[in-house]
Amino acid sequence: MDLTTRLGPLTLRSPLVAASGTVGSVVDFAAVGAFACYGAAVAKSVSEQPWPGRPAPRLYPVGSGMLNGIGIQNPGIAAWLETVAPRLAAAGVPVWGSVVGKTAAEFARVAAAMSGAGVAALEVNLSCPNLEGGAMFALDPSAAAEVVAGVRAATTLPVGAKLSPNAGDLAAVAEAVAEAGADFAIVGNTVFGAAIDPETRRPGISGVIGGYSGAPIKPIALRAVLEVRRALPDFPLVGCGGVRRGADVVEFLLAGAQAVGLGTVHFADPRAGRGIRRDLLRYGRRHKVDRVSDLVGAWRPW
Ligand SMILES: Cc1cc2nc3c(=O)[nH]c(=O)nc-3n(C[C@H](O)[C@H](O)[C@H](O)COP(=O)(O)O)c2cc1C
Repeated sequence: MDLTTRLGPLTLRSPLVAASGTVGSVVDFAAVGAFACYGAAVAKSVSEQPWPGRPAPRLYPVGSGMLNGIGIQNPGIAAWLETVAPRLAAAGVPVWGSVVGKTAAEFARVAAAMSGAGVAALEVNLSCPNLEGGAMFALDPSAAAEVVAGVRAATTLPVGAKLSPNAGDLAAVAEAVAEAGADFAIVGNTVFGAAIDPETRRPGISGVIGGYSGAPIKPIALRAVLEVRRALPDFPLVGCGGVRRGADVVEFLLAGAQAVGLGTVHFADPRAGRGIRRDLLRYGRRHKVDRVSDLVGAWRPW
């Protein structure tokens, strides 16, 4: 099966995309991961100033998933340009940068600075509290659109808006970011969650409420992809949430995503992409599918 897939202006050699924050800075992960199997790898989100992140504990396993409250720890754009950017070309995979900020103007400044760094695209991480409005950008169509419009104006690179399954009206947010100039969307990020240890009575993570990811969120992420696809039949999408096997990737492709993100699975197996790619090729042979692109949106109604 030909794994090439088109994602708006981008052509990817594989539909597998390493999700932001789960493969470190990308460059550090290159030696332990299996990047040859991926179409792209997304670097950890970067803000204008360094963010220290939240105190420990920041990761907490819950069922077969994981709760995290990292607080988007990152070194800030100046240090990122100095330490990470020069090594991107050696990663063995096209790298997308990920931009985050507390105001739309901050997103735009980071995007402008990152544009010359050798990344193939910019992801806009909208799952961050809006300093001016309070709630996450990703929950509000107009706040999300303002951020994407600013980034769009600041770069000529392809721009992907990373949406949140927590949005009340996800289709409205997707329509707003498409209108604001995003070339594609990543659907989506973690699901709000929490845990309390009954023995110690303490929350699993210091931030109390965090992002839940991994296998249990797959149906939620798939629902999110279907919702966005229904509202925007032609908008390029990366499905993301809970993928562990090739069959999960096929599900997201059938739902209408052109590419599929792999995140938490890397914590269990940094080389997970290898087995997932192998599964995918096996599926293609078994179902006589010549091109992965033939699977996109090809779910059958009852
Ligand atoms: C520890 C951890 C850190 C993450 N950091 C980021 C980040 O910096 N930027 C971002 O856009 N998403 C971040 N994510 C979200 C993932 O990229 C992904 O969207 C989410 O985990 C759902 O996919 P999964 O179930 O395959 O992990 C992070 C996820 C985890 C588990």
